[in-house]
Amino acid sequence: MATFEIQFFVMSIHKEVKKVTTHTLIEMKLRGEKISMLTAYDYSMAKIFDAAKVDVLLVGDSASNVMHGHETTLPITLDEMISHAASVIKAVQRSLVVVDLPFGSYQGNSKEALNSSIRIMKEAEAHAVKLEGGEEVVESIRRILTAGIPVMGHLGLTPQSIYKFGTYEVRAKEEEEAQKLLKDAALLEDAGCFAIVLEKIPSKLAKQVAEMVKIPIIGIGAGPDVDGQVLVSHDMLGINKDFSPKFLRRYLNLYDEIQGAVERYVADVKSVDFPNEKEQY
Ligand code: KIV
Repeated sequence: MATFEIQFFVMSIHKEVKKVTTHTLIEMKLRGEKISMLTAYDYSMAKIFDAAKVDVLLVGDSASNVMHGHETTLPITLDEMISHAASVIKAVQRSLVVVDLPFGSYQGNSKEALNSSIRIMKEAEAHAVKLEGGEEVVESIRRILTAGIPVMGHLGLTPQSIYKFGTYEVRAKEEEEAQKLLKDAALLEDAGCFAIVLEKIPSKLAKQVAEMVKIPIIGIGAGPDVDGQVLVSHDMLGINKDFSPKFLRRYLNLYDEIQGAVERYVADVKSVDFPNEKEQY
């Protein structure tokens, strides 16, 4: 290949590797293209998800459950979230990487929220942060945005408030909570959030929110009439067998697949079938 051909080849490769930005998501909403989002917590999985062209990778605080084995999302620390996020970022060429601010890292005051967000952006080199709540966190959102850090909101079932809710049931079924959610969504948009996650609320209400605001609404258990969908990767891949809410679609049964493969490996080791002649030096 001549030098100019190699240069052209390299340039066209770079053109193909288009990065998803917060602006891309808003453009997608405008042209009616649905946004795909999936949680990722480590380098190897993130590399596969990025290659599969998932638009947004969320380093969710669900890492507390699926990676650290805690019962709720509350115990995971900011240091642990930064460590997960840094490994995800290293794997990614195309996806937008959003990182959850964990419980206790932003509720104190807006300065704490800003400092935690700066740590995530600086130490993990993330692209944006996400936090849970409406009116009560709007001041923090505004302050984070003053530092040029994009913020994604999260309303409906907000798992960091599980002890206040007392249950993981569908939220905002009653008129009063639905009205508060509509007001909160408008406040988050007005504060400058680039997108909002709506978790486990009636589809009709989610549709109303998606029609009301200009920013993308990403649903989880919020029906089809929103701008995109997010799932916890361990749930949709069937690594986690214990969690089967109605909204979840399992695309694989990895728990059984991995267990089967590992059982075969153990049997092969015990019977000295592994390593065979070709698998040694
Ligand atoms: O932490 C998480 O995985 C989340 C999703 C459920 C949206 O916040």
